[in-house]
Amino acid sequence: MSEKQKFYITTPIYYPSDNLHIGHSYCSTAADTMARFKKQTGYDVFFLTGTDEHGQKIERKAEAAGVTPQAYVDNIVAGIKDLWKLMDVEYDDFIRTTDERHVKSVQKIFKKLHDQGDIYKSEYEGLYCTPCESFWTELQLKDGCCPDCGRPVEKTREESYFFRLSKYQDWLIDYIKTHPDFIQPPSRTTEMLNNFLIPGLQDLCVSRTTLKWGIPVDFDPKHTVYVWVDALTNYINALGYGSDDDTLYQKYWPADIHLVGKEIVRFHTIIWPIMLHALGLPLPKQVFGHGWLVMGGGKMSKSKGNVVDPVKLCNRYSSDAVRYFLMREMPFGSDGEFTNEALIKRINSDLANDLGNLVSRSVAMNEKYFGGVIPTPAEYTELDQKLIDMATSLWQRVEKNMNGLQFSGALVEIWKLIGECNKYIDLTTPWILAKNEADRPRLGTVMYVLLECARIVAVLIAPTMPRTPARIFAQIGLDDENQMTWESVKTFGGVKPGSMVKKGEALFPRIDIAKELELLEAERLAAIAEAEKAAKKEEIPAPADEEKTVFTQKDLCQFDDFGKIQLVVAKVLKCEKVPKADKLLKSTLKVGDTERIVVSGIAKFYTPEEMVGKKVVLLANLAPRKIRGVESHGMLLCAANADDSKLSLLTVDSDMEDGCEIG
Ligand code: MSP
Repeated sequence: MSEKQKFYITTPIYYPSDNLHIGHSYCSTAADTMARFKKQTGYDVFFLTGTDEHGQKIERKAEAAGVTPQAYVDNIVAGIKDLWKLMDVEYDDFIRTTDERHVKSVQKIFKKLHDQGDIYKSEYEGLYCTPCESFWTELQLKDGCCPDCGRPVEKTREESYFFRLSKYQDWLIDYIKTHPDFIQPPSRTTEMLNNFLIPGLQDLCVSRTTLKWGIPVDFDPKHTVYVWVDALTNYINALGYGSDDDTLYQKYWPADIHLVGKEIVRFHTIIWPIMLHALGLPLPKQVFGHGWLVMGGGKMSKSKGNVVDPVKLCNRYSSDAVRYFLMREMPFGSDGEFTNEALIKRINSDLANDLGNLVSRSVAMNEKYFGGVIPTPAEYTELDQKLIDMATSLWQRVEKNMNGLQFSGALVEIWKLIGECNKYIDLTTPWILAKNEADRPRLGTVMYVLLECARIVAVLIAPTMPRTPARIFAQIGLDDENQMTWESVKTFGGVKPGSMVKKGEALFPRIDIAKELELLEAERLAAIAEAEKAAKKEEIPAPADEEKTVFTQKDLCQFDDFGKIQLVVAKVLKCEKVPKADKLLKSTLKVGDTERIVVSGIAKFYTPEEMVGKKVVLLANLAPRKIRGVESHGMLLCAANADDSKLSLLTVDSDMEDGCEIG
């Protein structure tokens, strides 16, 4: 027997944030779907994921929470693993950058690069964005802030080690140009070449002396390894690279695909390949930069208060429905908007109507007309043959799309067959055939064709929706595992005549969309109210005889309370009155390179014209709220006197750029 071809796929390792949102699930679902597809098509697959646990961000969060960084991350990692379980993300290994195997390997790699002269000691003076853990030059800043996240950068000056990126710049440009598949989709290649490589690479600062939560440089322990150098090596460390047992490394490296979000393509296609090349190791075959799941036009992010909880969605609609939505809704590589409405519409139209109806109608008719016994097909007509040809060649179109990571394209192809099957029912009118005894053989053939098509569909959707196929097989009376394989969908006839269909529950019950949306909105508002109540409970009212503005010891805001609040400078681009609400103004704000809508009760004090151009203070991470039908994303801070007869917007004193953080 010939040896199976290997396939190594990775997700990025996730920052341990207390709640991963549906945007994070997107990447893992895609990687899992791909891993399942490759297994199904006969590959020996290794699927790696994990957590990226070091860095200033974690150090500060742990400090704010009053726990050690290790305790902080341990708690969160457990939750991340639970989420992957819930979403059927079935990885082969989960690496944590705090694992000893990882720490040891990072130290060895750093030393090797140092000993061979690719890492040298010097002094770093420059700008650092803590949320992104990225170094920037003055020239790269956008309006004085981090070009990636728009937040302010910090000036740092310290003794540091540097990695000679510049030495390898020409080699990398040449490599990327001669390996057009290395960075996908192709637009990201252009972006990397034009924005980073052709303008020229500077040597990279790869150690910090001010950061303690990280991997110490073993030969100079006051230095801590730069988090991205630490994190990127996870992809080989998990395979045992450089350890006593590197069997997995020998077997699976180089990776076939590093799946990453578009904002971290540059780390994976500049720093990582240069590190590997300097170490004399082969490069991953492909880095695929997927798009973002956005909400209200902006990247979903906790700090913007526009996150959607995947746990809630899976518990409510099933993990298969959520996975289907994620993989179907947007072409892989592009951004896509998440809305509850879009999710429910997909569940209703594609899953309940198209797929659900095909299975339930076919099974119900088979029960009604044949007492549940699957009939033997008679001769196929031209109409049957057309559908059969479509069904037995479908795997080719699915395979082509899947191999290009076009998950949505693959699902569209499968749903074309489902659509044709539903049309076939209307064309063959089984309920009329059933009236005439002479048409029984024809009716039997129609039933068989439908059940067999349902089998093929069930096999092909398995990578995206791992739970649904078994439910379909049970309904169409299939228990032969050989008829559930990839090979089996290339020929027609897997369903066994004589076996019994068994009507089951609806695969995906139809949702009353208006009711559901109302319910979801009520839930969201209740959650906000709950959070506000919890926050109020902790507030201790100042004694009555004290001045309102004098704060007692008990009123003190703890460091981590304040850390939860994100205040930023925002510029008012547009402003208008909210119809039928005389107190409300709807402002369109510019915050860095994003825009958002905020509704404020200030119409008595400001006209829309006065508002335009103002630089105001925005509470940016307030959960969105619908006010008079307009969704408001944040709150403008104002000072108001006790009886609300006077009100003044907080603005910034000098000309600060919008997007700058206040704190
Ligand atoms: N720790 C780094 C990766 C290091 S890899 C050596 C990191 N972690 S992350 O937790 O911030 O992001 C993990 C992945 O989730 C990234 O690929 C990121 O693009 C993805 N997503 C986070 N939010 C997302 C959306 N809203 N939409 C789609 N994917 C997004 O970056």
